[in-house]
Amino acid sequence: MARKPARFSGGARLGVSGALVFRSRAGTGDAAIMHPPLDTDEYDVALEQVANSLSKARRVVALTGAGVSAESGLATFRGADGLWEGHRIEDVATPSAFQRDPALVWRFYNARRANLRTVQPNPGHRAFVELEDRLVKRSGGDGAGAFTLATQNVDGLHRAAGSRRVLELHGSLQRVRCTRCSHLAATDEALPDLPHCPQCGHLLRPDVVWFHEMLPAEIWREAAQATAICECFLVVGTSAIVYPAAGLIDAARAAGAMVVEINPEATSASRRGGLALRGRSGEILPQLMQRLRGEKT
Ligand SMILES: NC(=O)c1ccc[n+]([C@@H]2O[C@H](COP(=O)([O-])OP(=O)(O)OC[C@H]3O[C@@H](n4cnc5c(N)ncnc54)[C@H](O)[C@@H]3O)[C@@H](O)[C@H]2O)c1
Ligand SMILES: [Zn+2]
Repeated sequence: MARKPARFSGGARLGVSGALVFRSRAGTGDAAIMHPPLDTDEYDVALEQVANSLSKARRVVALTGAGVSAESGLATFRGADGLWEGHRIEDVATPSAFQRDPALVWRFYNARRANLRTVQPNPGHRAFVELEDRLVKRSGGDGAGAFTLATQNVDGLHRAAGSRRVLELHGSLQRVRCTRCSHLAATDEALPDLPHCPQCGHLLRPDVVWFHEMLPAEIWREAAQATAICECFLVVGTSAIVYPAAGLIDAARAAGAMVVEINPEATSASRRGGLALRGRSGEILPQLMQRLRGEKT
């Protein structure tokens, strides 16, 4: 499968940056502050408000991050200067790391790929499937654009749960591609420390987006377009410091969407306005679905 050059004018239009980077001080500072932690009654009201918005919205976008997979047992990412599963980010998730020591980088990704075989989607992933089904059904027709799930996760758990319109902004651990030719393949199998291309013999790499690399152009364009016209935007399980993905949150606000954060902790997204539901996505999302079904939680 050939890949297009990774450029994205959609990003430029939305005023978000190109290559994958951390930005710890996000937001323009002009946003209303998200709600502080809610007591039970307030939480209930907020949940109802979000369910209400979801029941009316014709177009919904969700941006998900590592937190959505935390309840499946996958480690989240520890922030700009933390370690990621015992490694410094610059040693395992940048093009220069791969040039310097491809075997180290492959051992890191092979360990994560092996770990994936031991985990399952959790109730949070499954709630997104139900939300998509509901919105697509309600929209009539083919439901195109009713729900878009843009994920920063590379674990494939949204698809494994059954979500259909999934935009993998940062690629997938379940694909490899050649560093030389256009070879791109899906594979769940164990790979050697230095796997080689069956077509040209050059080194393969994981089909994930490393820091300093561009996002896949077409996927980014679709995410930006869906965001620009959505009415409700869910920000779930992400610290919202990895750009350009986190820039979608500002784009959604600019588009007038209701922005809802679901996360146990306040994040960089919390400063930018909207509504926050504090807690685990594997608990809150199913509660939201119950509300949408008309069942009181
Ligand atoms: N599973 C994966 O595919 C995976 C795992 C780690 C890192 N990454 C990559 O690392 C980068 C990390 O950015 P990020 O923002 O996705 O992750 P992050 O680790 O920076 O942030 C995780 C967020 O999830 C929240 N969280 C923790 N448990 C949660 C739960 N049960 N429910 C809801 N939220 C919960 C945390 O409070 C935190 O804000 C991305 O580029 C991503 O590609 C992916
Ligand atoms: Zn090749």
